[in-house]
Amino acid sequence: MKIEAIDLFCGAGGLTRGLLDAGVSVKAGFDIEESCRYAYEANNKGAQFFAKSVGDVTAEELTNIWSSAGKSIRLLAGCAPCQPFSTAANTAPIKKNSKEDPRYFLLNEFSRLIRETQPELVTMENVPKVLLHKPFLDFVEVLKCQGYSVSYRVISCEKIGVAQTRKRLVLLASRIGEVDSDLYKLVDIKETLNVGALLDTLDPIEGGGRSDKDLMHFARRLTPINIQRIRASKPGGSWTDWPESLRAECHKRDSGATYPSVYSRLDPSKPAPTITTQFYNYGAGRFGHPTQDRALTPREAALIQSFPKDYQFVEDNSVGMDRIGKMIGNAVPPKLGEVIGKMFLSHVASH
Ligand SMILES: C[S@@+](CC[C@H](N)C(=O)[O-])C[C@H]1O[C@@H](n2cnc3c(N)ncnc32)[C@H](O)[C@@H]1O
Repeated sequence: MKIEAIDLFCGAGGLTRGLLDAGVSVKAGFDIEESCRYAYEANNKGAQFFAKSVGDVTAEELTNIWSSAGKSIRLLAGCAPCQPFSTAANTAPIKKNSKEDPRYFLLNEFSRLIRETQPELVTMENVPKVLLHKPFLDFVEVLKCQGYSVSYRVISCEKIGVAQTRKRLVLLASRIGEVDSDLYKLVDIKETLNVGALLDTLDPIEGGGRSDKDLMHFARRLTPINIQRIRASKPGGSWTDWPESLRAECHKRDSGATYPSVYSRLDPSKPAPTITTQFYNYGAGRFGHPTQDRALTPREAALIQSFPKDYQFVEDNSVGMDRIGKMIGNAVPPKLGEVIGKMFLSHVASH
C-alpha cells in the first residue's frame, strides 16, 4: 500500500520534495501564500497547491484529496510557521509577545484536522524551542488521546547530508503501530558536507551580478563600505578581523561582541550556519561568500538547504529577493523531508 501525503503550510515545497524523493506520494499542499504556487507545482509533479489558510481548511476537503478510505495510508504533514517559537523571538520560554502572534495557535488548527480526519500517519517539524510552548504540548496530547503512538526528536541537519548546522524538532505519529526509536537510525548516516565544495559547483558572480544560465543565481550589490569590510574578512572569522575604521557603531558598543557572525564570510571547510530568510543580506549573519566579495545568491542558499540544483522558485525575475528569501529560508531541507519519508516507509513495512 502506498503512503499518500497532504502537506499543510507547504511553502515552496521543501518537505514535499523530500517526501517525493523518499517514495511517498504527495497529493496536495496548502499555504496562505499564493506566491508559493509556482515553486510548489513546477517542481513537484502530481502535487496540487491550494492557496488557503489552514484555519479555513475542512476535513471534507482533505478527505476528497486522499484516495478513498482503505486504498492508501494517509499521512498529514505540516510545518507550521516557526517564528513565534524561534530563538530570536524568545529569549525566555513563552514570552508574552509570541502568544500575540496569530501564528502561535496554528498548531491547534493542525490538530483539529487530525481529530476530524484521523489519518494513519502524522508528522510535524519546527524549531527545537517549540518544545517549551503550550500549543506543542497540546498537539502531542491530542495525538495521544486519539490513540496515536508519538515520538519526537531534535535532528541535526548536518548529520543527514545537509551542508548546514540547522537543528529541527521532528515529530512522527502513527495509528498503525508503535513508532520505534530504531527508526532514528536512518538519521546519522551521512558524512558532514562542507559548504565550500557545494558552492564551487556554481559559476562565480559579482555583487549586483546575475547568471545568464540560472534565474536563481544573482547577488545583491554591496555598499562601498561593505565591499571594504568583506575584503577585510577571513572565511569563518568575524568583524574583529577588520581595522577599527571599518567597524560599525554596534560593533564598537560592548553588546557588539555578542554578534560575532554578522558581516562575516562562510567557512568553506564547515557546514553553513542556519540559512535564514535574510541569507542575501551580508549584514544579517554569516552569509558572506567564502571567496567572492558578496552575500549568497538564492541558488547558493537553496543548495545549502539541499534543494536540487534545478529547483525553480519563480517563473521570471519579477519576484523580489524578499519573497524568494522567505521561500528558501523557511523551507524544510528536502533531505530532512526524505529522511522523514524513509522513516515512515520503514515503519509501514514493519507493520
Ligand atoms: C516553516 S514554513 C513551511 C515550509 C515548507 N513546509 C517547506 O518545506 O518549504 C511555514 C509556512 O506557513 C505558511 N503560513 C503562515 N500562516 C499560514 C496559515 N494561516 N495557513 C497556511 N499557511 C500559512 C507560510 O506562508 C510559510 O510558507
